[in-house]
Amino acid sequence: MKKLIALVLSLMLIVCSMAALAESKGTLVMATNASFPPYEYYEGTEIVGIDVEIAAAIAQKLGYDFEVADMEFDAIISAVNSGKANFGMAGMTVTEERLLSVDFSTSYATGVQVVIVREGSSITSVGDLFAEGAMHTIGVQLTTTGDLYTTWDLEDNGLAVINRYPNGNEAVLALKAGKVDCVVIDNEPAKAYVAANEGLVILPTEYVTENYAACFAKGDPLLAEFNAALEELIADGTVAAIIEKYIPVEE
Ligand code: ARG
Repeated sequence: MKKLIALVLSLMLIVCSMAALAESKGTLVMATNASFPPYEYYEGTEIVGIDVEIAAAIAQKLGYDFEVADMEFDAIISAVNSGKANFGMAGMTVTEERLLSVDFSTSYATGVQVVIVREGSSITSVGDLFAEGAMHTIGVQLTTTGDLYTTWDLEDNGLAVINRYPNGNEAVLALKAGKVDCVVIDNEPAKAYVAANEGLVILPTEYVTENYAACFAKGDPLLAEFNAALEELIADGTVAAIIEKYIPVEE
């Protein structure tokens, strides 16, 4: 009898541990740069935001555990390509150049490059940056599309000087301190930075509209799985609800 109980108990143990194993297929690590509210930012010691919640929902749907790795924006693509992270999600714009080194998921949001200036600035529209002899000093986050576009459109044509900062927050602090004349950055973080710093405004004219997507090492089979889950979460309204939670629709 005792032997039977012992056998049943050990069988139960084996079944339980198999169930525990089956419950998680492993951990998905998302590389990001958490200075980009409302997509990814710190709330105390925790990284929260639209990208984090969408990625967590995808991982859960697929049966993976989920972790976020914070790094410089500039380091995300190499983290993905070296296998340090399974994918990158960072309000990252799909561009032709990036498509040479990574694959992108289905797009889940759009962004717009906008210009932040100090109140009363002589720069009143995007066009002012292109004026002949303008030579403004523009702050950007290193290797973001804000950096790439202003470099190609303005610096390469001798129309501006670009100051590159490791994150958007430092670019905005440089603007406040008068070290740059404006900052070119994505619209949603721009709104968050302007709300958190007095004396700054966003110009009403938009510079470039773009699509955000998650990036993967080229040929990674995880992408198909990820896309299937993401597309379901888009179709059932989960993605819209997460975005709406962080970006309430303006009336
Ligand atoms: N959308 C821009 C880009 O892809 C900026 C993204 C910056 N993201 C971040 N988490 N800091 O270049």
